[in-house]
Formats: sequence, structure tokens, C-alpha cells
Amino acid sequence: MNILILGGGGREHALAWAVRQNPKCDRLIVAPGNAGIAGVAECASLDIQSRAEVLEFSQENAIDFVIVGPEAPLAAGVSDALRDAGFLVFGPSQAAAQLEASKTFTKEICDACGAPTAAWSRFTDAASARHYVTAQGAPIVVKADGLAAGKGVTVAETIEEAHAAIDAIFDGEFGDMSVVIEEFMGGEEASFFILSDGTDCLPIGTAQDHKRVGDGDTGPNTGGMGAYSPAPVLTPALQDQVMERIVRPTIAEMARRGTPFQGVLYAGLMIEDGQARLVEYNVRFGDPECQALMMRLGGQVLDLLQACAEGRMAGASVTWADDHALTVVLAADGYPGSYDKGSVIRGLDSLPETSFQMTFHAGTTERDGAITATGGRVLACTGRGATLAEAHQRAYSLVDAIDWPEGFCRRDIGWRAL
Ligand code: AMP
Ligand code: GLY
Repeated sequence: MNILILGGGGREHALAWAVRQNPKCDRLIVAPGNAGIAGVAECASLDIQSRAEVLEFSQENAIDFVIVGPEAPLAAGVSDALRDAGFLVFGPSQAAAQLEASKTFTKEICDACGAPTAAWSRFTDAASARHYVTAQGAPIVVKADGLAAGKGVTVAETIEEAHAAIDAIFDGEFGDMSVVIEEFMGGEEASFFILSDGTDCLPIGTAQDHKRVGDGDTGPNTGGMGAYSPAPVLTPALQDQVMERIVRPTIAEMARRGTPFQGVLYAGLMIEDGQARLVEYNVRFGDPECQALMMRLGGQVLDLLQACAEGRMAGASVTWADDHALTVVLAADGYPGSYDKGSVIRGLDSLPETSFQMTFHAGTTERDGAITATGGRVLACTGRGATLAEAHQRAYSLVDAIDWPEGFCRRDIGWRAL
């Protein structure tokens, strides 16, 4: 099978690493890839948001299966163009990708199918939004209604903070967007990953992310500084509850509207007093949650993604080891604000690369034989073990072997569960 993976981050390195282990994988191309992905696949330079470019490339290279990693090509309709041309694709249509691209769309789906989530209102001008916040009081949550790389959400402790967030959005900080204001939900957050072929669903794992940049969950939000899987807070009973009350109703509502969801549904959940409510959906694997999930799933992931794309989810199952995985993100100093590019990372050559320890690359490029940092989040050091403590030790031993003075990481990944 000739497989094309779209994307070039830590998520795609982990996907490529897992897919490569499956004997069905003959040729593996990742576009655009990165310096780490080049070790497990061919990398191709391609504008992955261009339907025409991806289609032409897939035709020229006799691709049998396309796996879409990030949300941007999904929102741009790349999977539709490929499917229309007869390609097998893992990833939702542009219409179904609205579940991530539009907060309003997701809230309307929740209302239509009765899925529990925070109360909400949408505003298209700053004055009404400010007025609403003043009436509701704080804490309250202000969201830009669109894709903002995880940075369009403010959990405001005070009315003044909420007003400032509203003003920033209407001043165009994230482009032309409206605002969704939500009730603040307390509790513990967890992520739940479900494959759906549009009709049937298969849960494939739970994880917990660490969104704040600093130890002890302090500082600004990021794309994610580390994750572990499984998330003990999502007990089997709670997973059943989420499938029955949130996931299956959503999948059914999407099908009823004529826009079935095919791909991985990433449900961000808030759990309080044994009840789960939906925070948000994403329509792709989480980054860095994917790195932890792929370490646990290994080569079977190709069979699962293929079954999903071919509409065979009803007969599919996951083979679980009784294991844990944990991933620690190394980021460039300054992230999630501005950061320098081009610093050299040393010590990567001598790191173990096994099914228990992998260093996935996110923002790296090779230059004159050296690996250089070219992104905000740069590496994801990932460990797997029989216990979370063992996975933690294996991940941090990778971190400690890397010589990169211009980078930093959180030292407390996994603290809630350890
Ligand atoms: P989102 O992009 O919608 O996932 O929001 C980013 C983060 O903001 C979430 O992971 C939560 O930590 C937090 N958040 C979003 N909505 C709420 C809410 N209604 N109540 C509490 N926290 C929230
Ligand atoms: N780690 C959060 C995300 O991928 O959205």
C-alpha cells in the first residue's frame, strides 16, 4: 500500500512511525514532513492546503490511502477533493470539519442532539458581548469563533479580563471572527478519541493534555506541552456515558444532516462529580496526545484508520496492552509568544528509538548535517511502560539526554495521575 500522510508536526511523526510498523505499508510519504519524519518516511514538499496540489501529487505517486493529520487541510476541503477523485481518505469532509472550525456549529449540534455542554451565546459586535458578560459575571469564557491554533480562548477570572478578550477579538487579532461566550465549567479535563465511519464508532483511547506553558498549570495557553494516556479520570463507566450521551448522538445528528463524520473525533471533556460535559470537538488527533496514543497502539493503527475510511468500523476492535505512555514537549524559549528559529539541537543521534522510547520531531529541519529548531513546539519525548511512573521516567530520560540550551519543557507532565 502506498500511503500519504499530510502534515509535518509531532503528531504526523508519531502517525508515520506507527503506520510504518504495519507490514501492509509499502511506500510511506509525509508532506511536508520534518527532519525526524525523514528517518521513517520520504518527505515531500507540498502545499497541503491546496486541493489541486494534493490531488495531483496523489495521482502521480499512485497513492492508495491518504491520512490527513492537521485541521487546516480538512477545513480547506482537501479530503473532499481526494474522495471525489476516488482516493481512500482518512479525515472528515469540509462540512463535517465544521465541528472543529466553528464553535457555533458545534454548540448547535449539541443543542440539537441534547449533548451536555456549557450554556452559550454568540455575538457579532463588541458592545452586546460586553453587556452580556457584565450581566452574567465572572468567571466566564470568551472564544473567537474559528480556528485560532488553540489561542482564541480566554478563561476570564474577572469581567475586565473578559471585556479585554472581547475587544481583542473584534479588533481582528484572529482575523474576522464573531465571539462565543460560555458558562465557565469547573472540573478536570480529559480527551477522548473515537474513530467513526459516519455511522459506527470505536473508542481508541483517552489522554490528558497540559495546555498551560508553565509547571503547575501556570502561564498562557499553548497547543499542548505534554500528555499521557490513558487518563484515569475517564473511567470505563464514564467512557460509556460519554459515548451514549455525547458521541453517538453527535454522529447520528451529523448523519441526519447529510454530513456524516468520518475520521477521528477528539472530544475535549470536562468532568465534575462523575458527569462529563463537552468542552469542544476537534476533528483530528490531538498534538501531543497523538504521540502518547500512537506509542500504545503501534502498527495496528493503520488497520484501524483504513477500516474507518472504508466504512468497516462496526467490525473493528482495538488490541490493548495494559500499558501507559507519556510525552513531554520541548519548546523554543519564548513559546507560545515569539521565539527564535535556527538554534542547533544536539544529542539526538544517540537516543534510543524503540517501542518504549521515541523522540518525535515537531518543528525541526536538517541544515548542514545538524538538526535545527524551526518551530515553537520542537520535540516530543515519549515513553511507554507498564505504569505511568515508568513511562514518565523513560520520557524524561530522553529529555535529559538532549542538549538544546535554547529550549525548555515542563517538568511536571503527568502530575495529576502520578
Ligand atoms: P477550546 O479551544 O474550546 O478547547 O478551549 C481551550 C481551553 O479553554 C480548554 O481546553 C479549557 O481548558 C478551557 N475552556 C474552554 N471552554 C471552557 C468552559 N466553558 N469552561 C471552562 N474552561 C473552558
Ligand atoms: N493538544 C491539543 C490539541 O491538539 O488541540
